[in-house]
Amino acid sequence: MLKAVKELAEKQNIPCQISLEEKMGCGIGACLGCAVKKAQSPKEAPEYYHVCKGGPVFKSTDVEI
Ligand code: FES
Repeated sequence: MLKAVKELAEKQNIPCQISLEEKMGCGIGACLGCAVKKAQSPKEAPEYYHVCKGGPVFKSTDVEI
C-alpha cells in the first residue's frame, strides 16, 4: 500500500511522507535489519537508511520501497 501511495503522490506531484515500520532487531543501527534503500543510489553500490535511526518517517522521494 505504501508503494501505491508513493507512486500516486509522485505522479500527482504531491509532497508525501511515509512511515516505515520495519521489524527491528537492535534499534541502534548495528544489525541492518531495518535497512531501506535510498532512492537514486547507484546500483553498483546501493546506499541504505536505517529506519531505526533515520526514521521511521521519510519523504517518499527519498526511499525505494
Ligand atoms: S534495527 Fe538494527 S540497524 Fe535498525
